[in-house]
Parts: sequence; structure tokens; C-alpha cells
Amino acid sequence: MLCLAPTPNSNSTMRFLTGLQPSGQLHIGNFFGAILPAVQLQHQGEAFYFIANYHAMTTMASPQTLRENTRSLAVDFLACGLDPQKAVFFEQSAVPEVNELAWILSTVCPMGLLERCHSYKEKMARGIAATHALFAYPALMAADILLYNSDAVPVGKDQKQHLEVTRDLAGKMNDTFGPDLFKLPEPIISESTAIVPGLDGQKMSKSYGNALPIFGDEKETRKLINKKIITDTTPLEAPKPTDHSIILALYKLFASPQDYDTMLARHRSGGFGYGQFKKDLFEAYWEYFRSAREKRAWLLAHPEYVDDVLSAGASRAREEASQTLSRVRRAVGLA
Ligand code: ADP
Ligand code: TRP
Repeated sequence: MLCLAPTPNSNSTMRFLTGLQPSGQLHIGNFFGAILPAVQLQHQGEAFYFIANYHAMTTMASPQTLRENTRSLAVDFLACGLDPQKAVFFEQSAVPEVNELAWILSTVCPMGLLERCHSYKEKMARGIAATHALFAYPALMAADILLYNSDAVPVGKDQKQHLEVTRDLAGKMNDTFGPDLFKLPEPIISESTAIVPGLDGQKMSKSYGNALPIFGDEKETRKLINKKIITDTTPLEAPKPTDHSIILALYKLFASPQDYDTMLARHRSGGFGYGQFKKDLFEAYWEYFRSAREKRAWLLAHPEYVDDVLSAGASRAREEASQTLSRVRRAVGLA
């Protein structure tokens, strides 16, 4: 058995926790907005990162897709630098105790709190079935966070309200069942993480068909960049506009500052065409993810390693979960 899980939390260590839904192929917006910050935080404290497959069931009903997406998220997160020696990495459903805590939290959760959540309303507006699970989603998310005694939760801006619900529920539990039952977790919402633009200039999102995948096929990704980034008709010899340039915005994420300055200067001077800029963009992107791609190929060839990581993470997470749950059961009168 490999020793893959880090040692338990000490009082002085910050514990970070976040979950990512297995909802399809990861794109570079997910990378810069969620994965990279999580990978950086694992060096600053103790990290609990999980694949939110229970949450994914609120919008997906295909067992095969759920299984495949869960697996590919595990592989891709590890390939992008999640270090199982530093972070406890597991599937949400490997710790079913979270459902019991969600139930207990839901007994102090006012309906109005859930009714105000805009994520639920937005999903209904997109035609997603208004199930009980979709409505109760924030209570399960609160349980994810409180079960592992998290100090801080890095999330995108869209999840801020769910963190407020979590803090509310933790406070209500403390008021009702004992003042020290839960600590109130802090959200980490990086204002500096710019929204990564998609190939069409809108926010990159898998729902908009404008995404640049992290691990795309070489030929297809080259084609995506060539076809989907629409450029103007400025002649080759003329200077090119730099404001709102999608090519420049994306290139900046991958290129060294010197290479970025060179591309900027070439836009301004004229004499270089969009075809050349797109080629440079593709090459910088391809190089940026080279080592992650190599690691991913290794992980795909060693599925047993991924299994070991997830099962060591699940055991460690379960230890923590059962301690919290015993404490909570005692406090509410179930034990
Ligand atoms: P999508 O919009 O493709 O459905 P998700 O909502 O599943 O993406 O987002 C998962 C994580 O990736 C969230 O934490 C979100 O903040 C981050 N993220 C998604 N798209 C972007 C983007 N274009 N720029 C920055 N971060 C993003
Ligand atoms: N709801 C989050 C999202 O869609 C995923 C998630 C589930 C989560 N449980 C969590 C994030 C707990 C942070 C903490 O992105």
C-alpha cells in the first residue's frame, strides 16, 4: 500500500478545502480559475480536495458519463500538479457520511435561505429539472465544508453565496446545539484571478462552445485556435489593434513576459499576420502544458496509481468525517 495521504492537521495549520464537479473536459478557464490556485494553496497549509460527484448528479443522469468524467477529473487534476503527498484527494461519494451531516444541517436550514440562492434559480432558468437535490445543493455543499473542519474554501465568485449559506448554517448549529460545534469557514475568492476569455471573447465556458481544453488533441486544438478566434481584415503590413485582442489575452497566460512583449510590439509595428500570431499562441499553449501532458499520459497508463491515490485520500477523509460526525451526533442527541 502506498503512503499517499498527508499527516493530520495540527492546530496551527490552515486547512483548505474545495470541490470540483466532474462535468466534462476541463478547459483553461478552469485551470487558471480553479485548478492552479488549488495547486498553489496545497503548499500553504493542509488541503482537502474532492471530486463533487454527488453534486454533479443534480445536472446529469448518465451513470457512464458520471463515471468517465469522475475518472478524467481525477487524472487531469493530478496531471496539473495536485500532489497526493500534500493534499487529501478523494471522491465525494467515497465518504457517504456527508449525506448524514447534510440532513442534520437541513434541519436548521430555513427554506428562505435556499430560495434566495441564485445558482438554483439560474439552473432552473436553463431548463435543469427543479429537483429536491438541486434545491438542497447548498446544504450538501455546507456539509462538505463543515465535515472536514475547513478553515478556508477557495471558490469562484459564483459560489460565494453558497459559502454564506455554509456560514449561516454553522452559526445556527452552534446557536442550537453548542457554541463550539463548528468553526465558520472563510471563502477565498481571488479577485485577481481574471476571467479567462473564450475563443470568441466571451467568458470561457464549456456551455458556450468557446473553450480551449487543457488536454486537447494537437491537431484539433491548432484548428480550434485557427478557426474559432475571429480576427479582423487589417492587412499584414499594417499595425494590428491590441485592445480586446483575444490572441494577446490568451498568449499572456502561457508566454514569458519577454515573448508577450515581443508579440505586443509585433502587433503595434505591423508586418506580421494573424496566422503567425495564432501559430505562436498555439505553440506557447502546447509548451505550457507539456509536462502536465506527459504526466497525464503516465497516469492514464497507470490507473492503479490513481486508484491508490483516491482510496488513500478516501480513508483519510473518512477518518476525519467520522470524528466530526460522532461529535455532531452526540451534540444533537442521536448518539
Ligand atoms: P464552466 O463555466 O465551463 O461550466 P464551471 O462552472 O464548471 O465551468 O467552473 C469550475 C471552476 O472553474 C469554477 O471555480 C470557476 O470559477 C472556474 N472557471 C470556469 N470558467 C472560468 C473562466 N473563464 N475564467 C476563470 N475561471 C473559470
Ligand atoms: N458547488 C461547487 C461548484 O459547482 C462544487 C463544490 C461542491 C464545492 N462542494 C463544495 C466547492 C465544497 C467548494 C467546497 O463549483
